[in-house]
Amino acid sequence: MEIVKVSGIELAYTRRGTGKPLMLIHGFPLDHTSWNEAASLLENDFDLLLPDLRGFGKSTTVAGPYSMSDMADDLAALLDHLGIEKTVIVGHSMGGYVALAFARKYPQRVSGLALVSSQAAADPPDRKEGRYKTAQDVTEKGVGVVAEAMTPKFSANADVQAFAKAVIQKQSQAGVSGALKAMAEREDATTLLPAFKFPVVLVHGSADALIPAERAQEIKAILPAAQLVMIEGAGHVPMMEFPKETAEALKRLG
Ligand code: MLT
Repeated sequence: MEIVKVSGIELAYTRRGTGKPLMLIHGFPLDHTSWNEAASLLENDFDLLLPDLRGFGKSTTVAGPYSMSDMADDLAALLDHLGIEKTVIVGHSMGGYVALAFARKYPQRVSGLALVSSQAAADPPDRKEGRYKTAQDVTEKGVGVVAEAMTPKFSANADVQAFAKAVIQKQSQAGVSGALKAMAEREDATTLLPAFKFPVVLVHGSADALIPAERAQEIKAILPAAQLVMIEGAGHVPMMEFPKETAEALKRLG
């Protein structure tokens, strides 16, 4: 991985493939490796950028609090460093919240947007409270609490569960709790959607146990021009469970 210093953070990223720029942003509490299989299927069509968000993978973190918008700033700084003016931006779940924060702040830098297993709505109060409790648990007991609780909800596929669990166990307590607080405080992006001037693709698993498929349908209702690709039988991590179908859906932004 390459490392670039932005906002006091060492931000790690991988760049592979050739073609139109496309950034793949991972979800919580994973890292860029969650995109590995899908990236292999996209690298002949796109100049792929796979960052580790601050606090995840090989990227360092800073003392919180920080926001989804700060994470979007890190990615804008990464694009500046690489001389990439405009990119397709793809976010899985929390990565989708970061993608929406990026689109809010840097719309002129977005040539297309895909939300994979994500949503535009902010957290209701009980979910927000739950995130702060989980952040406390992670600080006291380690990231294992999140690995145990989340992995079964990611997918019914045992291999995918095992891969995801191993990735989660490598993450830092500070990064995981920092991201939980940032997700809790994220802005609602629903009202932002109609202003999008770029193509939008929504990829969702019909069996997503963490963010129900209705969240993608709600976005489609607000943004009728968006293309919704519902992957039958996929859970919360379609790029790991159905990499071919996910990659094909993302190629619509090529
Ligand atoms: C994710 O997969 O990034 C998280 O489940 C998103 C969330 O908790 O809202």
